[in-house]
Amino acid sequence: MHIRITKASDIPSSEITPKAHYMSRRRFLGTAAAGAALAPLLAAAPAGANLRWENIVKGPFSTDEEPTPAEDVTSYNNFYEFGTGKGDPIRNSRFFRTKPWSVAVEGEIEKPGTYQFEDLVKPHQLEERVYRLRCVERWSMVVPWVGIPLAAMIKRFEPTSKAKYVAFETLHDPKRMPGQSYPVLDWPYVEGLRMDEAMNPLTLMVVGLYGEVLPNQNGAPLRLMVPWKYGFKSIKSIVAMRFVEKMPPTSWSESAPGEYGFYANVNPDVHHPRWSQARERRIGDFLKRDTLMFNGYGEEVAGLYAGMDLAKNY
Ligand code: MTE
Repeated sequence: MHIRITKASDIPSSEITPKAHYMSRRRFLGTAAAGAALAPLLAAAPAGANLRWENIVKGPFSTDEEPTPAEDVTSYNNFYEFGTGKGDPIRNSRFFRTKPWSVAVEGEIEKPGTYQFEDLVKPHQLEERVYRLRCVERWSMVVPWVGIPLAAMIKRFEPTSKAKYVAFETLHDPKRMPGQSYPVLDWPYVEGLRMDEAMNPLTLMVVGLYGEVLPNQNGAPLRLMVPWKYGFKSIKSIVAMRFVEKMPPTSWSESAPGEYGFYANVNPDVHHPRWSQARERRIGDFLKRDTLMFNGYGEEVAGLYAGMDLAKNY
């Protein structure tokens, strides 16, 4: 991603080291200093680890591709609120408390209010869906997410006909999110979807992965998962949802408009100005693979963009 840094020495090595090397270096360090390394690794286990969601049903749209090992999904992250290095979120989010948690729901709806997490997410609605996530930085993974369809959540708020977009906001609290003390982005992190994208049956509000309560570094307690868009649309630790008439600003398109658009649909034909988006490395794989249009979800979502020039609306 585009980061406001001035010196090359400011770039954490995990940003510039290919994932495969980075992981194997971590494993090597782990073996080399076995005893010493093990303690911090165990201590760094996410706060919610091992708390499992019960009675999750298998949802539709799951890929039968091999899921990425949980260890990788939870230790190689982008979550700039906890640092810009891939290994920062697991370390720096360790003490992040997500209870109690509420979400302000506002704007063009009949039922505005501040909803407690427990009221928003009913355990009987939970589904497991194995989705691909493709990051704009050319890595991808396959994750058994646990969540509820965003459409089901939104219907409860009774949007009016003026609700054309939904804007999402991450918690802004530099005391709890140390990365927010640095002007990497204009905090809080914000994202948005067009209403039909939000209501698409693929779009999931995620509260867990691998059957467990969502680890802090993956966006606890609730984050979006929009599998046909680059990962940065899948905003984490959401505290506000606003239903609006006009297209809302989004963190990355405000920060670098020439590099990131509002739609951010995975599109191998539209390159990032500084790199090609034609191929990607699945975490754990050595060789790269071709990136698929809409991340392989074209059958479900291509119709949303009929008639739009996707080279302009990137
Ligand atoms: N949400 C917030 N609030 N802050 C972030 O830095 N990073 C995004 C997205 N959501 C980010 C965020 C990016 S770039 C990616 S690729 C995904 O989270 C990574 O999600 P993961 O940790 O589940 O892999």
